[in-house]
Amino acid sequence: MTNTIIHVDNIHKSYLMGKEAVPALRGVSIDVQRGEMLCLMGPSGSGKTTLLNLLGGLDEPSRGHIAIDGADVVSMKEEQLARLRLQKLGFVFQTFNLLSNFTALENIEAPMVLAGKLRRRARRERAEYLLEQVGLGDRMDHYPSELSGGQQQRVAIARALANDPPILIGDEMTGDLDSKTGFEVMQLVRSLNQEQGKTVIYVTHDPRMADFADRVIHMTDGIIGREELKNGS
Ligand SMILES: Nc1ncnc2c1ncn2[C@@H]1O[C@H](COP(=O)(O)OP(=O)(O)OP(=O)(O)O)[C@@H](O)[C@H]1O
Ligand SMILES: [Mg+2]
Repeated sequence: MTNTIIHVDNIHKSYLMGKEAVPALRGVSIDVQRGEMLCLMGPSGSGKTTLLNLLGGLDEPSRGHIAIDGADVVSMKEEQLARLRLQKLGFVFQTFNLLSNFTALENIEAPMVLAGKLRRRARRERAEYLLEQVGLGDRMDHYPSELSGGQQQRVAIARALANDPPILIGDEMTGDLDSKTGFEVMQLVRSLNQEQGKTVIYVTHDPRMADFADRVIHMTDGIIGREELKNGS
């Protein structure tokens, strides 16, 4: 097992708009170490979301290679990609994206049902455990509309952890939260990184949220500019 968990090698991505190719990534290479907490920053349109989508095989690069835990993502078929996303990656988005007709507990059970590894009782117990871990042991039967933004985001984080993936991917996880709540969510993510060794790669526009990372990579116009190391790493 190498120490590199995410290997991105000279990725290019253009979107076709009519007949015109709009470049979004123009030669991006990044190696993320197992257990690292990596932050991506950069102006709107610099290609951050495009890069995260490619990591999860939600879209295909125009050229270049991506390996997650040693497996080549670009050549995978849809079924393998679906399994990769379920087993290796937990996604957290800006707008929580919880299922509104499901309780907090049921939202966390959903990805476990898809993975098909646990029976009903074990799923329930794991969902309860995860909700307690994110500090929502007293909100298990609440629907998303009955939770605050920060609570909904914590449910989304628990859901991302449902199948115990080694990697957490966050796209502006704190973008819709006030700064105090955003700070609490980042503290939670940092503790998952430090205590459980989760590898985290997240995008933020807020320099204070970037301070939680080991390393910050700045993107501009589809390429990597500056890199900074933080937290004494
Ligand atoms: N589906 C798409 N079709 C066409 N062009 C796209 C598509 N998605 C993104 N783009 C273009 O690719 C570039 C990168 O977009 P991307 O969403 O990755 O930026 P971003 O860094 O995440 O920006 P933001 O901070 O605003 O979220 C932009 O120029 C955008 O217009
Ligand atoms: Mg984006």
